[in-house]
Amino acid sequence: MERKEFLKKTLALCGLSLIPAGIMESCNKQTFAGPANVNFTLDLSNAANAPLNTVGGAVLSNGVIVIRSSGTTYNALSATCTHAGCTVGYNATSGTIICPCHGGTYNAATGAVLTGPPPSPLTKYTVAQSGHILTIT
Ligand code: FES
Repeated sequence: MERKEFLKKTLALCGLSLIPAGIMESCNKQTFAGPANVNFTLDLSNAANAPLNTVGGAVLSNGVIVIRSSGTTYNALSATCTHAGCTVGYNATSGTIICPCHGGTYNAATGAVLTGPPPSPLTKYTVAQSGHILTIT
């Protein structure tokens, strides 16, 4: 057997059988999670957070999109698309979270996948309001 042929056959074997199935499986199931250990506050009197004083407004902070969904309700979702890790954005017109990379869309209240390739929902966080301070955890 010539060296070139030997290398060809060896590499073929490596590609087909020597990579553990678990590794191959985990590559196919890779998903991008949102930030962990989230714990921050947003001051609604701060100009940077002014969009949250209007229903339909949203602010991106600490990798989390915070959306004012009603007069008294806020939703907080990871800004990291679970498909390939792109930063998603809130579209107030459609009321959905949209990924600019491959067009995945998510429910802006729950983070559930609506359309496209994302394999799992966006991580949802808790929002508590005390006066003009929102605490996201
Ligand atoms: S990275 Fe968001 S849909 Fe692909």
